[in-house]
Amino acid sequence: MAQARPTLAERLRDQIAKEGPITVEAYMQACMADPQQGYYRTRNPLGAEGDFVTAPEISQIFGELLGLWSAEVWNNMGAPDSFHLVEMGPGRGTLMADALRALAQVAPGCLDAAEIQFVETSSPLRAQQKSACQHVTCPIHWHDRLNDIPHGPTILIANEFIDALPVRQFVKQHDGWHERMVTLTDDGEFTFLPGSKTITDQSVLPSDPQALKNGAILEFRPDVAPLIEEIARRATDNPMTAIFIDYGYTHGGTGDTIQAVKDHKFTDPLKQPGSADLTTHVDFLALEKYAKLQGLEVFGPMSQGHFLLSLGLAVRTKKLLAKASQEQAQLIVSGAQRLVDPEQMGALFKILVLASPNLPSPVPF
Ligand SMILES: C[S@@+](CC[C@H](N)C(=O)[O-])C[C@H]1O[C@@H](n2cnc3c(N)ncnc32)[C@H](O)[C@@H]1O
Repeated sequence: MAQARPTLAERLRDQIAKEGPITVEAYMQACMADPQQGYYRTRNPLGAEGDFVTAPEISQIFGELLGLWSAEVWNNMGAPDSFHLVEMGPGRGTLMADALRALAQVAPGCLDAAEIQFVETSSPLRAQQKSACQHVTCPIHWHDRLNDIPHGPTILIANEFIDALPVRQFVKQHDGWHERMVTLTDDGEFTFLPGSKTITDQSVLPSDPQALKNGAILEFRPDVAPLIEEIARRATDNPMTAIFIDYGYTHGGTGDTIQAVKDHKFTDPLKQPGSADLTTHVDFLALEKYAKLQGLEVFGPMSQGHFLLSLGLAVRTKKLLAKASQEQAQLIVSGAQRLVDPEQMGALFKILVLASPNLPSPVPF
């Protein structure tokens, strides 16, 4: 009889037992992207029937307004005959489908010039993106990395992409900073512990690490610097504007922000690795600082609520309501409110725009 394939939890337990504790980053990487059993490799996590919902799944207005925003940015770039409209981590493809439908109506010239470039590592989600964009007239390509897309004028959209990239965590102890690791208890359960070595690489620590108390936790996202460096390279030889929309903090901070979500509820990130969505708060200050260092123009961070209202969310809501049934009207209003209400997504989610120097400021900055 064929033996059952070991689960991700069993493989990680085996690895820790043989080789010792693994970093938080390695644990998150395995949970999210293990080729056989990683969360994003094995399922369609988004939507009411999945584990969580994102802004484009809440209201079509989100993608539509980003489509109109892209048309403005394209005009600012001098309306090039062709450009890359890149989306990083496009999920179910809903944002892009809504954006392109809006472009077809109000900016057909921009739509004609667009070549869609999806950066997506999940096969199940690639299939969903294909289906969501089946009526799209412009060419669509898929890539594993931004670096694989040819250079050229580019508009890049990334909604809830950075929060899904793994972090390293560091814990302050009496003798300095230690990498936070994942190990096993005597009962074989996963647990956190500070690694034995102190960290000497100052580039991952804050400029004034002495100011923090023992027990403080810091997070550092290793994939961010290479991403910004690639954007900066592309922004040097061609006009480029990138918009990042994510949840996070703007003044730097400390603390363990790993959260695990399954079936629309918070769960323990160490329970059943690979079965829940793991994310962490985005450090917008770190993004902003590094982007400036790379010579990019930075706009924001601005709250999602302010951004969407400035782009005309209220007007678009009214237009949709004019043709809606009572049931549809309720969904349209509650969806729009959820995106902009400061108590819901309006304040926690922020917008950061990175652009080639010398382009006109993007709306609404
Ligand atoms: C939280 S979902 C956001 C989906 C979509 N942007 C939305 O708003 O509905 C994260 C997305 O990023 C993708 N992703 C995660 N890590 C990735 C990586 N390293 N490279 C490319 N895509 C990645 C996931 O497969 C998924 O499509």
